Amino acid sequence: MTAKNSPTAVGSHSLNAPDPKTPRPASVPPARPPMSGSWLAAQGRLPLAFMGLALVWLAAAALMLALAPGLLALPHTHPHVVALTHAWVLGFFVTVACGATYQLAPVALGTTLVGERSGWWHFWLHAIGVPGMVYSFWVWDLEQLGHFGTAVAVGVVLFSINVWRTVRRAGRSGVVATSLILSAGWLLLAVLLGLLLAANRFWGFIPLDPVALLRAHAHIGLAGFFLTLLQGVAFQLVPMFTLGDVRDWRRAKAGLWLAQGGLLVLAPALAWHLAFLAFAGAAAIVAGVFSSAWGLARALDTRKKRRLDPGVRVFLLGAIVLCIAAVAGLALLAPGTPWGSAPGGFGAMTYAVLVLGGGLLPCIAGMLCKIVPFLTWMRAYGPKVGRGPTPAAGALTQPRLEAAAFALQIAALVPLLIGTWLLHPVWLGVGAWILFAGVLLFLGDMAGVMRHLWRPVTVVAPAKKIPVKNAS
Ligand code: HEM
Repeated sequence: MTAKNSPTAVGSHSLNAPDPKTPRPASVPPARPPMSGSWLAAQGRLPLAFMGLALVWLAAAALMLALAPGLLALPHTHPHVVALTHAWVLGFFVTVACGATYQLAPVALGTTLVGERSGWWHFWLHAIGVPGMVYSFWVWDLEQLGHFGTAVAVGVVLFSINVWRTVRRAGRSGVVATSLILSAGWLLLAVLLGLLLAANRFWGFIPLDPVALLRAHAHIGLAGFFLTLLQGVAFQLVPMFTLGDVRDWRRAKAGLWLAQGGLLVLAPALAWHLAFLAFAGAAAIVAGVFSSAWGLARALDTRKKRRLDPGVRVFLLGAIVLCIAAVAGLALLAPGTPWGSAPGGFGAMTYAVLVLGGGLLPCIAGMLCKIVPFLTWMRAYGPKVGRGPTPAAGALTQPRLEAAAFALQIAALVPLLIGTWLLHPVWLGVGAWILFAGVLLFLGDMAGVMRHLWRPVTVVAPAKKIPVKNAS
């Protein structure tokens, strides 16, 4: 495989086989199989299946919002709003994140996934369970919600065990490995608490405010799973795609552990209405987020690739908005503040739109448009390397289409925020349709990439020169 046509030309250090001359400590398990093109092609099937499923959910969730933008003006506990939330969160975001974990865990840790078969069980349980859950939320059928939710939860149990065993087998520690294990644990906790909430709505056996429990569940899912995952994988992905280096892990480590400590305080404090403790927990999370952001900025300073492509740019923009959203969340929790769950103004819904639309969507979509071309390339062209011309992985995407898609998705945030603040249907409609247009362009780009799986090109256009400057 030549450097020019390898998909890892932008980040070879973490995707290549280890140096055979490096002495192996006694505690490290036997070497992984060599990462040949065909080996990675076989490994890439599972993550690619998750990415495909996530793209279908992205279309469905964006369409749901475009057809009923007024949902964002309802109280966030309304069944249709909870259905819409889970279409986005479980259908799109969690599906991408699980697929990315199945891809990144072996690559980052230099091992193979322990349970490929259990990964496929997870895929099918998730593919069947989530649509059932979204429908059950919509019609508020708590019995069916319990059944479909259990399917999703069993899938997440398999996922967590798989991640944990993979990290253990790799025998690695460090921020990325720790964040993979912790995030899988938080996801498991979120789905189990979700099932408990559903059971409690049905039988009413927990003597606590259901909205307070909902908040605890939502934060364990969103901050516990996604934030923890991002605080680790960002330090793998960003240096990989910008040819940078993490020279000092202290800020990343401090960021991860501050946020973990904060979450452990915040979640119970939200459930039991302990305002001061909730604020203290949130403050620790904010400190953790900023520490991670600082560490990432330092890693970016070392990059050799000065011009960032749309995927990396939008990922970083999402990270900046997440920092802003963390401060907004802290303000919402300040003891004595009048803001709460009621629609309108600065409340839960505006905050949720900022976190999901401004923070997570750019981060996850940015990640998708780096990982999907890589996986597609591996499946379509990996086994052909050395036997004929193959295109570069970067040539599979259409950067202009990607940039336009991201611009629309980001532009949609403004009317959506104004709409949720003023409870104005026109602003909400405009925002939802701009977002839908951005999603359609993004799906067009992704479809163009995945087309190579069925129709690989045989004649390769001359590679464009990527400007590379020295870090100095
Ligand atoms: C088996 C999986 C899950 C089940 C059964 C479930 C169940 C529920 C239930 C019943 C509610 C509404 C609570 C109420 O009104 O009392 C809820 C709300 C919520 N859940 Fe889940 N959940 C699951 C997974 C997740 C995950 C993985 C996340 C995030 C990563 C998540 C994020 C949220 C959010 C943000 C809300 C608040 C929605 C709103 O207020 O509109 N859920 N969940």
